[in-house]
Amino acid sequence: MTTKVIKNGTVCTADRTWKADVLIEDEKIKQIGVDLKGDETIDAEGAYVIPGGIDPHTHLEMPFMGTTAAETFETGTWAAACGGTTMLVDFCLPGADGSIKNAIEEWHRKSAPQICSDIGYHMAVTGWNETIFNEMKDAVDMGVNSFKHFMAYKGALMIEDDEMFASFKRCRELGALPMVHAENGDLVADMQQEMLSKGITGPEGHAYSRPPEFEGEAANRAITIADAAGVPLYIVHVSCEQAHEAIRRARQKGMRVYGEPLAQFLTLDEGEYFNTDWDHAARRVMSPPFRNKEHQDSLWAGLQAGSLQVVATDHAAFSTEQKRMGVDDFTKIPNGSNGLEERMPVLWTRGVETGRLTPNEFVAVTSTNVAKILNIYPKKGAIVEGADADIVVWDPKITKTISASNHHSILDYNVFEGFEVTANSRYTISRGEVIWAWGQNSQPQPGRGRFVPRPAFPSAHEALSKWKALTAPKMIERDPLNIPAGI
Ligand code: URP
Ligand code: ZN
Ligand code: ZN
Ligand code: ZN
Repeated sequence: MTTKVIKNGTVCTADRTWKADVLIEDEKIKQIGVDLKGDETIDAEGAYVIPGGIDPHTHLEMPFMGTTAAETFETGTWAAACGGTTMLVDFCLPGADGSIKNAIEEWHRKSAPQICSDIGYHMAVTGWNETIFNEMKDAVDMGVNSFKHFMAYKGALMIEDDEMFASFKRCRELGALPMVHAENGDLVADMQQEMLSKGITGPEGHAYSRPPEFEGEAANRAITIADAAGVPLYIVHVSCEQAHEAIRRARQKGMRVYGEPLAQFLTLDEGEYFNTDWDHAARRVMSPPFRNKEHQDSLWAGLQAGSLQVVATDHAAFSTEQKRMGVDDFTKIPNGSNGLEERMPVLWTRGVETGRLTPNEFVAVTSTNVAKILNIYPKKGAIVEGADADIVVWDPKITKTISASNHHSILDYNVFEGFEVTANSRYTISRGEVIWAWGQNSQPQPGRGRFVPRPAFPSAHEALSKWKALTAPKMIERDPLNIPAGI
């Protein structure tokens, strides 16, 4: 049994901030108090001691748009650790056989030997049949309790409304959380053809063909479908006021709808797509696209007001060479951008340093709220006795300039290139092991990370609408008091 004590820091959680030492015994937090002693000491003088960051949305080694995302499970989890993130939740996509179960096994096969820190999965539902219905139960039993539905990417991953409704009802039965990529895929496909027919083939065509109205329409539609099915809903990569407004309105009515802006959407704008350097613009092509300043202000306000709850990256990293697959046609540029290492430093610098977020709110949106919404709290996302010792010594005095020349991602560029950040992780601790120390740059053993199963939710949100009683299936009986021991 080895013990470590984090000394002289200021513990900062989603609820409060206070001076205390934190004692770690093996993989867990043993005690929080004053003058604690351990075999080893970790210095937190002048720093905050916060729960390890959790990025709820990544795509590592994902096969997509005719290629495979370049970031590996090894480089992705390592880059994450360098920026204070100790867990990420990656999206499994079904392979050619369409099987959910096989996809989860394939993700384990790829990730297990590589991961430097802990990982969970969401599962994509990209169609509807009896096998998918049955295998959703297998997924939940395998610790995957959330299912993403793509309302865009027509002809590829897109799902129809009736299929989504069936899947949402299945989520309700299983105590699982449905998620949506909210963009009207039919209209996007139409607008893409219109742009191409006008001779607009460059990355600006990507922005023109995916206006915020298409995102807002899809968000409203998904909320209506979730309401009818009697399930909560998590809307991924919220980029605009229209989608945010739909979420606010639903929450105001008492519906449990969650919204996830990205670090990129909060800080980068649509002007990037009009850069005369094609590579620069193409590297930033993702869906939904970056928006203007008014939308950014809406997202910041949502984080402040609580109508948006978490900040993710949607890290889907394609190299410049891969982006060039779309050099003659923007619809062929693989969609995705980076952010795993940058999420927390950028959010601190642009959010806390500017007074938009308090340090406690920063902890909530980067870690604690994620753990709660994804049902792994307080094992993750908390500094409390018995929790996993996933802790970051967060130094608000480290300054650096973000650059592809010093980042830890596999990518040959960085969408935050040139950003000055004023905070970073001094030490990143994953289940009691220091996996990153500022200035040392020594990568932990790949494969030391673990898959974190996320159990089904004991109870679902009750939709308020009158028609719900006619359509929503009964939940599988689960005793909310009969929760497995431990945290
Ligand atoms: O452009 C994006 N967001 N790429 C990753 C896939 C997705 O839609 O999340
Ligand atoms: Zn359709
Ligand atoms: Zn998406
Ligand atoms: Zn994504």
